[in-house]
Amino acid sequence: MSADRTEQLRAIRDAVLNLTESPLYEYRTLNKYFPVLGQGDHNATIMFIGEAPGKNEAETGRPFCGASGRVLDELLASIDLRREDVYVTNILKDRPPNNRDPLKAEIELYAPFLERQIDIIQPKVIATLGRFAMGFILRHFGASQANQKISQLHGSAITVRASYGKAVVLPLFHPAAALYNASQRDTLEADFQVLKQFISQERSTPMRLL
Ligand code: URA
Repeated sequence: MSADRTEQLRAIRDAVLNLTESPLYEYRTLNKYFPVLGQGDHNATIMFIGEAPGKNEAETGRPFCGASGRVLDELLASIDLRREDVYVTNILKDRPPNNRDPLKAEIELYAPFLERQIDIIQPKVIATLGRFAMGFILRHFGASQANQKISQLHGSAITVRASYGKAVVLPLFHPAAALYNASQRDTLEADFQVLKQFISQERSTPMRLL
């Protein structure tokens, strides 16, 4: 089962590696960057979805490995989770120049890869990090809340119907927001408590980069 998931995720990685039609492909290759597919447990109950890789991520091929990633790790630790217990990915798999917001066309181009990752891993909880991931995921599942603001929806569990059954979307602020703002950090910590009820008993395997 898990080997099968890994095979399917490898196929996604290979497709993204060769995504020459991406407007970000040339920027990736010129800078000797890597695409960032995702990292963690292929059987995870909880999947985190961020926006796009930053510089650190593009240099290493690992999601959330810079300053925002440290915040994410601390938030995970606050509910007794480690990265290897969850799966972490982004909407865009390549870094946009100067960390600008993702463009609509870029989101549309990379969306099928994220959608396949969700269908393969089949998370019970999809925790979105920031407004882009929240908007994309709520629209993807046809949620009636899709046009609401993250300031209204953060921390509230929204039930959606995925291809593999019921799932919960949990909108969260982006960890970068907590870097310089203590009250955003408090909010994120409180919202992470909502995840506690979904933590499964069995702990998983060594960390996978894919
Ligand atoms: N911000 C994101 O949205 N994703 C990353 O992987 C890193 C920073």
